[in-house]
Amino acid sequence: MRVILPNRLVLSAMAGINSAEFCMNFPAGLVILGGFNADAKAMEAAKRVVARGRREFLFDDPIKGIEEEVARIAGKKAFAVNVRSSSLDGYVEVADIVRRYGGIIEINAHCRQPEFIEAKCGQWLMEHPKELASVVREVSDAALTGVKLRNGAKCVEAARLAFKAGAAYVHVDAMIPGGLCDFRLVERISRLGITIGNNSVNSLEMAEKMAKVAHLVSAARAILKDPHFFHKLLASPKLAEPFELSG
Ligand SMILES: Cc1cc2nc3c(=O)[nH]c(=O)nc-3n(C[C@H](O)[C@H](O)[C@H](O)COP(=O)(O)O)c2cc1C
Repeated sequence: MRVILPNRLVLSAMAGINSAEFCMNFPAGLVILGGFNADAKAMEAAKRVVARGRREFLFDDPIKGIEEEVARIAGKKAFAVNVRSSSLDGYVEVADIVRRYGGIIEINAHCRQPEFIEAKCGQWLMEHPKELASVVREVSDAALTGVKLRNGAKCVEAARLAFKAGAAYVHVDAMIPGGLCDFRLVERISRLGITIGNNSVNSLEMAEKMAKVAHLVSAARAILKDPHFFHKLLASPKLAEPFELSG
């Protein structure tokens, strides 16, 4: 399994925002749809998150909703699908969809909203690296698999076990509370395997700095401020290079 990315830029997941239609607007080499919720418990958690004012994709039938989004982008752009699920089945079903449409599943071990953590999704998985590894082991046989992590005590261990279990990449949000980015954490994870460096990439300078410690560079909020952000980054020869993900 392999996906060729036309450049080293990645549009990072934004729940309730990164639909196929939205992602089509950006020249990033890889766009990440979602986050989506793949099973009933994760969807229930999403409804509670929406009830307190945050954005989420709510589908009556989660798997059907995800497949419809994937079908809209497949063949047009290299894509991954960022997924939360409280059961292994949810990840397996999404892995089957992305395999059929030539994409990547990105296991969300990152979201810190308490509703998702209660449902054993998002950051809960990073805090339980063995459970995370067993999900990766199951789905990476079926589809190209990435894992999204956030800075935290278990981050490096979770990355190591994820790579060992078959992850094609780790996408690390290296946020330091207070608004900074831990480039040394990204560098440590890059030594273990293919890494997407994330957090606070809001200028060409920051993107080039991230490209020194990571294989691929992602951004989310900068795109909301400036829809032409990725066009500007493509002025960098390094960031404009193609890249192959395989597993
Ligand atoms: C509105 C919004 C929604 C987000 N939703 C998700 C999500 O569903 N899954 C995920 O892994 N990360 C999610 N993130 C985190 C981003 O993908 C990214 O890791 C974070 O914003 C830091 O990168 P940035 O500094 O480029 O924004 C979200 C971020 C924002 C701003």
